[in-house]
Amino acid sequence: MNRTLAIIKPDAVASGKAGKILAHLENAGFTVRALRLARLTEAQAGEFYAVHAERPFYGELVEFMTSGPCMPMILEAEGAVPKLREVIGATDPAEAAEGTVRRLYAESKGRNAIHASDSDENAAREAGFFFAEADVLAIHA
Ligand code: PPS
Repeated sequence: MNRTLAIIKPDAVASGKAGKILAHLENAGFTVRALRLARLTEAQAGEFYAVHAERPFYGELVEFMTSGPCMPMILEAEGAVPKLREVIGATDPAEAAEGTVRRLYAESKGRNAIHASDSDENAAREAGFFFAEADVLAIHA
């Protein structure tokens, strides 16, 4: 089994779509291993998206991710990282395949409902950004 990190973004939490998105992920075969509601500070969002610091939309992305509560979670499944990328669809909902989370629930390329890690290495780093390993292990106790 593998893990990945997802964040239901502020647009989806604010518009009351978090429950539907969570159900979509569970129906797709993911098990929730850790989950919380978080309000990111500018420093936290800036650090999380540091890889995009030079891109023109960076300021907009940080502003959006700090605009309201988001819902980070650790999801488990066989091949979790590529599986989740497929289930959520392309970054731009207009290009996302029918039936994907972003096609169903996202507003635009910026306000696109959900984030998913793009590699096993980033999944581990991003999970550590929001959760202690003890939080995950506690589920099995
Ligand atoms: S990716 O994942 O690198 O292939 O996609 P990319 O298009 O490069 O986008 C990376 C993240 O930046 C967000 N994004 C934007 N935010 C605000 N405004 C604009 N115009 C914009 N374009 C892209 C996009 O939602 C990606 O966020 P995450 O959370 O990584 O999915």
